Amino acid sequence: MSLASPKVVNVKDLRRLARARLPDAVFDYLDGAADDEVTLKDSEKAFREVFFKPRFAVATPACDLSVTVLGQKLDLPFLLAPIGYSRLMHPRGELAASAAAGRHGTAYILSTMSGHRIEDVKAQSPGPTFYQLYLAGGRAAAEGAIERAKKAGYKALFVTIDTPVAGNRERDFRNGMKALMGPDPIAKLPYLPNILMHPRWLAGFIADGMARPFPNIVVPGSGPLAAVDVAAALESAQVSWTDLKWIRQIWDGPIVMKGVMTVDDAKRSVDHGAQGVVVSTHAGRQLDGVAGSLRVLPGIVEAVGHQTEVLFDGGIRRGADMVKAMAMGAKACLLGRGYAYGLGAAGDAGVERAIEIFKADIVRTLKLLGCSSIRQVDASCIAMKHGFRVD
Ligand SMILES: Cc1cc2nc3c(=O)[nH]c(=O)nc-3n(C[C@H](O)[C@H](O)[C@H](O)COP(=O)(O)O)c2cc1C
Repeated sequence: MSLASPKVVNVKDLRRLARARLPDAVFDYLDGAADDEVTLKDSEKAFREVFFKPRFAVATPACDLSVTVLGQKLDLPFLLAPIGYSRLMHPRGELAASAAAGRHGTAYILSTMSGHRIEDVKAQSPGPTFYQLYLAGGRAAAEGAIERAKKAGYKALFVTIDTPVAGNRERDFRNGMKALMGPDPIAKLPYLPNILMHPRWLAGFIADGMARPFPNIVVPGSGPLAAVDVAAALESAQVSWTDLKWIRQIWDGPIVMKGVMTVDDAKRSVDHGAQGVVVSTHAGRQLDGVAGSLRVLPGIVEAVGHQTEVLFDGGIRRGADMVKAMAMGAKACLLGRGYAYGLGAAGDAGVERAIEIFKADIVRTLKLLGCSSIRQVDASCIAMKHGFRVD
């Protein structure tokens, strides 16, 4: 089916197509979140509690969507967020996302948990590329990745601080994700019937070499980390504020703290010299029960917005959602599942369609609001429901 057909008009359509193409284990890995998924639901709901205040009868002939993030001019007010195991969703995975971001003049943030090499991902895009860092594998593995990212031309480091352990993603347990990524063929058997029902995905997965190790987590002396060992590797190398000082010694570009949900952590990030923070719940996949990230955004912008770049992600399913976050003071947004559903649905063509949909949404929303530039959007464009904020 053509993705441009009237049947694919929004992200829900891409999600539906991803669900059809992917086995349950992969779809739920992408779609799911931690525990009761309270935070995931609230992330989406929070946007429903913010209302626009349009200014009509204002001519808006052109709409300028460009923003400057970490010194990089972007043609779109959103970046593509780091999504680990993107290569599971489609063999082109991170390559497809990087290429699509570059085509649209925006940035791609490559996850440490990438299935493709740092250098190959950068080669797909003439645009700015950033690297998301976990310390999985320890400092030596991280240092190797940082050096490679620097050499390949990555422009900023996003240090994710919300993952001291992997979140309790119950859908992944039920679907046997660990067994499927592991070496024991017998352990995989109960999960195979569902996988066999998705032959298009399976053919691509087999041709791509199946569950591969992570090429950018290279522990000196033992090679790339196996996918099945990742949770333990994350737990044994939790990032802390003291690591930041060490990271600063080997990386002289901008550093952004990803996963900031309180004013305290935002201030600590600034004190440690971060050029930016991402207000994020990690898609509700880590600590369930934190508020949807939109609710804490205004407080964090008020506290540190004058000192550092405040980026935002979580629950964005429409371009209008991004406009709301930017009206609350976010410098730009990160799009996660919004493009990853496209990747799971149709690889490169799906990511392309996702970006087109969001871009068109933003332009339309701005025109309806009476704004000719995304940078014109501010608090006067919105009203929040009473009790919306969590400070
Ligand atoms: C399947 C999946 C994998 C993710 N992997 C990573 C990762 O490796 N590193 C990271 O910092 N964030 C990761 N995230 C979080 C995203 O970068 C981003 O914060 C989140 O997806 C935004 O929420 P949204 O999906 O509702 O847009 C992941 C999210 C999903 C859905």
